[in-house]
Amino acid sequence: MPYIAVLTSGGDSPGMNAAVTAIARSAALLNMPLLGVDRGFNGLLGKSPKTDFMELNLEKALDIADLPGTQLRTARCVEFKDKAVQARAAKLLRDMDVAGLIVIGGDGSFQGARALCEQGIPCIGIPGTIDNDLAYTEMTLGFDTAVNVCVDAVRSIRATSRSHDRPHVVEVMGRHCGDIALMTAASTGAEIVIAPEAKRWTVDEIAHRLQSQIDRGNYRSTIVVAEGSWEMMAPFDVYKFLKPYGKEVFEGEPMTAYRFASVLKRKTTMPDGSFPEVRHTVIGYTQRGAQPTARDATFAFESGVLAVNLLQHGVSNRVIGMKHGKVYHEDIEKALKARRPFNRSLYNTINGL
Ligand code: ADP
Ligand code: F6P
Repeated sequence: MPYIAVLTSGGDSPGMNAAVTAIARSAALLNMPLLGVDRGFNGLLGKSPKTDFMELNLEKALDIADLPGTQLRTARCVEFKDKAVQARAAKLLRDMDVAGLIVIGGDGSFQGARALCEQGIPCIGIPGTIDNDLAYTEMTLGFDTAVNVCVDAVRSIRATSRSHDRPHVVEVMGRHCGDIALMTAASTGAEIVIAPEAKRWTVDEIAHRLQSQIDRGNYRSTIVVAEGSWEMMAPFDVYKFLKPYGKEVFEGEPMTAYRFASVLKRKTTMPDGSFPEVRHTVIGYTQRGAQPTARDATFAFESGVLAVNLLQHGVSNRVIGMKHGKVYHEDIEKALKARRPFNRSLYNTINGL
């Protein structure tokens, strides 16, 4: 009986381990031997096949479901974009007697999976990414957990902001997709949200919004910024602005949450003429390395089982997703082409209140 294999790729996301456990349980039930690939597509480069592939029996995979991170490890493997490298990986998989591969990752990883399909390796994708940036599916694995981590953090931050009358800048993850920021802002009552899809935004426009909150008697606004939004900011010379205030800043330094809080502080005033005490928090990897919520763990479970069943029935070139609340599978090409419109109405509602 040939093997099936599984790898996790790109940024780790809560629920990846739960999906691997479900894959191992299904494979065991169907008597399909399973291999785990170490560190995403890196494990397919043929550098050390003896350690890059490990037998994944129930003993190894049964108890990892609740664990955060990915036990198989993950990586960003730039070489894998190269066609010759993809062809070598396909040959290696054939030599290892692997008849099907499950790729758990985001859109980049799905492109890798599609390339392997083109090289004749049947692949199934599971959307493992906290960003929720895959348009064909209503949810990606890890998004719900990441949002809940952010919501917990912002609730605590707002309690302290309220106690001290201090506005607060909170940076959440999201490279091209502001869904984590939007949902966090909406569910915590944050007054301002900045998302990469909003395109060009200016420091002055945010300072103006913060000032208008202060003028209405709200001295403790929360400004939620998606990580990818800094690149969308209209040029602003942080050095030129902050240096006269004696801040330690060097020429050409980019905007960060810390500096943004510092700039906003000096662009706004409290009713007594003083600067507000604007503070900042970067939530960072606590979003990625969290234990999956029940919603993510359930999606992981269903996706893992479906992925194995598809391979067993000779179905390939598919990615798993959620549609009308049900787990389903979609053509990989079609899934990669899907473009989801930005929820501008929610964005405007949050910023407009
Ligand atoms: P994600 O899967 O979370 O979107 P990345 O964009 O970093 O994360 O992609 C993960 C990995 O997928 C990359 O490091 C690379 O190995 C592989 N990959 C990305 N883009 C391609 C591509 N165009 N062709 C083949 N492999 C790709
Ligand atoms: O794709 C997931 C993600 O966490 C993005 O939200 C973020 O911009 C990016 O990965 C950061 O990746 P890393 O810290 O691994 O370089």
